[in-house]
Amino acid sequence: METKTNMELEVLYRISQAITHQHDVSALLAEVLDIIETEMGMARGTLTLRQPGTDTLVIEASRGLTDEEKKRGQYQFGEGITGRVAKTGKPAIIPDISREPGFLNLTGSRRNARMAFLCVPIIHRRDVIGTISIDRPRASEKDLKKDQYFLQLVANVLAEAVAGIREQIEERQNLLAENIRLKQELDDRYRPGNIVGNCSSMRAVFRQMAQVADSTATVLIRGETGTGKELVAKAIHHASSRRQGPFISVNCAALPENLIESELFGHEKGSFTGAAQQRKGRFELANGGTLFLDEVGDVLPAVQVRLLRVIQERAFERVGGHQTIVVNVRLIAATSKNIEEAIKREKFREDLYYRLNVFPIHLPPLRERRADIILLADHFLQKYNAMHHKTVKRISTPAINMMMMYHWPGNVRELENCIERAVLSTSDDVIHGYTLPPSLQTSEATHTGILPDDGASLQTMIASYERELIVDALKKFRGNATAVARHLRATKRIIHYKIRRLGIEPRHYK
Ligand SMILES: Nc1ncnc2c1ncn2[C@@H]1O[C@H](COP(=O)(O)OP(=O)(O)OP(=O)(O)O)[C@@H](O)[C@H]1O
Ligand SMILES: [Mg+2]
Repeated sequence: METKTNMELEVLYRISQAITHQHDVSALLAEVLDIIETEMGMARGTLTLRQPGTDTLVIEASRGLTDEEKKRGQYQFGEGITGRVAKTGKPAIIPDISREPGFLNLTGSRRNARMAFLCVPIIHRRDVIGTISIDRPRASEKDLKKDQYFLQLVANVLAEAVAGIREQIEERQNLLAENIRLKQELDDRYRPGNIVGNCSSMRAVFRQMAQVADSTATVLIRGETGTGKELVAKAIHHASSRRQGPFISVNCAALPENLIESELFGHEKGSFTGAAQQRKGRFELANGGTLFLDEVGDVLPAVQVRLLRVIQERAFERVGGHQTIVVNVRLIAATSKNIEEAIKREKFREDLYYRLNVFPIHLPPLRERRADIILLADHFLQKYNAMHHKTVKRISTPAINMMMMYHWPGNVRELENCIERAVLSTSDDVIHGYTLPPSLQTSEATHTGILPDDGASLQTMIASYERELIVDALKKFRGNATAVARHLRATKRIIHYKIRRLGIEPRHYK
């Protein structure tokens, strides 16, 4: 008896020492379990802590559990014995866990268990902030009770320390959250007013734009057609210190071969037939500003050589001229082509590619940032309402669903056109599914099972319209098909038939 008491004092002493030198909760709890293990001869021990602000207990330290088991070991308040101890704040003794039906064994690790189980709450200012539990060899009720008292003592000693450290952790987490919020605010500040996007890939684009804007580094904007390459190029120019200077754009794909050199570099009077006047090229016009080389992947090999030279030397001669002209131009290039592929096929010079690819920015296709679809749709709704003096108020749920499901090969431009047309064609200030272009009327969107190859059939569009009418009515009458039939002046039999055929689930609208 005497020795046992001394032993317990020793344990408490060692624990209080641990508390004073350990400021990391997990390490402290692990140390405490170590002490209990060596002094009390437990088989397994588990310390759980309540996740701040929740009713979930998470294993913070354990002895005799594998990592896998630890991960599985999460308890809700009231769940199993640990959960019950946490909920009631009362300790529990299970003299023989093999006979205990309430024993969850969530960690799934007690196979041949002829053990007793003790669990006590860690209470701080009347709140349960965690639990300590141990498995130990079975013993008399009296001995188990004694161990339980002792464990409770340990828990009480620990409570203050654990609560203190946890407050620090919470503070740190709040700081972290604050940091993330500030960072997002910063992103918002970088976001050029006319570029919509809130997904992480667009946020990354905004950050990159802010990073590069004020330098003179050449930017290469990549992305499928309609992803906003030109928009981004202009925004970089306007965010740079050259914003007062000109922004000159040249579409390298649109220029005929015999004109591109004179377009880019200008020509002297009489240098070729039709060159009646001396003319400045785009490089000269962009002096002091930004030159946007759009579709740069389409530049012909002969012009690639000359481009390379201008980029390297910022100097060139007009076609038919001898005077070297030096310009101060910031280059932004864009392409939707796979340049790497073109290099392999020897259609694009590798050295030019390296000169252009100093600071690449990749614009994601719309189908990879579906979260932005609604934002963009709303943005274009406002834009075209204003432009066409319309008052379209909303986009119906089926229309949104269809937009979310579509793969948008033409990306933002296609979405923009789609909204403009819908704004112009709607008669009741709502964009409905059936006001969207045929390409969006796919089988998934309408649940008709008819998949039009190119454009929708009349049948598909009618089905989409029917579906929307019925779903709207089901919502209005909370899934009551009889009321829907009355409202749509159809028979119940027809409504039931259509509900089945269109794959509508009336109970979703109850
Ligand atoms: N994030 C966006 N926010 C608002 N409007 C956008 C956005 N992205 C693109 N747009 C709009 O979509 C249309 C197409 O954009 P842009 O011309 O910049 O695309 P692009 O990548 O240059 O396409 P292409 O490769 O076909 O030339 C423009 O009207 C542009 O204003
Ligand atoms: Mg473009």
